[in-house]
Amino acid sequence: AASGLIDRFGREATDLRISLTDRCNLRCTYCMPAEGLPFLAPPALMSLEEITRFARIAVTDFGVRQVRFTGGEPLLRKDLVEIIRSVAALDPRPEISLTTNAIGLTSRATALAEAGLDRINVSLDSIHPETFAKITRRPFLDRVLSGIDAVRAAGLTSTKINAVLMPGINDHQAVELLEWALAGGHQLRFIEQMPLDADHTWERESMITAAQIRERLTRRYLLSPDDAPRDGAPAELFQVRERADGPDGPVLGLVGIIASVSEPFCADCRRTRLTAEGAVRSCLFSHTETDLLGPLRAGADDAELADLWRGAMWAKPSGHHMNEAGFAQPDRPMSAIGG
Ligand code: GTP
Ligand code: 5AD
Ligand code: SF4
Repeated sequence: AASGLIDRFGREATDLRISLTDRCNLRCTYCMPAEGLPFLAPPALMSLEEITRFARIAVTDFGVRQVRFTGGEPLLRKDLVEIIRSVAALDPRPEISLTTNAIGLTSRATALAEAGLDRINVSLDSIHPETFAKITRRPFLDRVLSGIDAVRAAGLTSTKINAVLMPGINDHQAVELLEWALAGGHQLRFIEQMPLDADHTWERESMITAAQIRERLTRRYLLSPDDAPRDGAPAELFQVRERADGPDGPVLGLVGIIASVSEPFCADCRRTRLTAEGAVRSCLFSHTETDLLGPLRAGADDAELADLWRGAMWAKPSGHHMNEAGFAQPDRPMSAIGG
């Protein structure tokens, strides 16, 4: 019988995030260095069977209800369709989502949807080719936009867009990006940049804060908090209306703000993560990981793996403590941790 994956602060992890690779075909400045990183050799990555085994333990032993695949860039896994099909066959079937840069989606969207993918979140910081290329260090905006269209054509309608705002780079494009998302029917979320860049150059002073984002958007639109319960989600949601229409006017769509740094949501965190090499990471900002793949390959049974996983989560920190003295950025950047 399922009994929850709880920590000593009473939080229960119901969402599993699985990183499928540490590689990426972009080089976003806030995530990866221009030259890339010493990437894992393929045998170090979890295989289709290993991923399915961990997901089965999460679903049947811990009652996990949502599985999200991340990276690096999960579309770089050649067996992504098979991975999704295999996790969708679990009983009970979890909701399955993907956080991706959308490159390569054009040709695979239909197969992914047919395999059981329920929804995707796309990282897209600018719809201007030059700005996109500056942030990602690659000229692939067209491929991203066609990937987003392909997903809708494949029948997935609740695509979310994730945008990290950076001063002088894309912060002045916030309203324009929102208008593009509203027109396309996508939920846009603006994200505060976190200290998870490979170069360790993050500075609080050069981060666009949630308050600044709200201020910028309310100059143009009326924002009112959405009534739906947040349920531990990182994003705080707002209804967007025309100023001229007033608070009872039609809702144009929703916009989210993910204020990880200035308004942390750690007290309500419902996430457990597996890195691409099969280690449990209880928090994005943990300094320790608990290897599960080594024990699995050495012959551990499901009960032993579940115990190791429970132990790792029991030790989950209460929060990232980014706003306290003595905070240290994890050695590994976002791409290696899994977004
Ligand atoms: P939904 O289920 O669609 O709400 O997904 P999500 O927002 O949880 O996932 P997504 O992969 O789209 O992540 C969006 C952003 O949330 C990431 O870029 C991170 O900035 C932030 N985020 C995700 N997980 C964590 C976490 O555990 N801690 C913190 N501080 N931020 C996180
Ligand atoms: N701070 C905030 N968000 C980040 N992402 C990657 N690196 C960072 C960072 N340092 C985001 C990407 C993607 C998601 C998985 O994580 O934009 O949407
Ligand atoms: Fe790749 Fe995403 Fe990191 Fe950009 S943010 S380098 S798309 S993993």
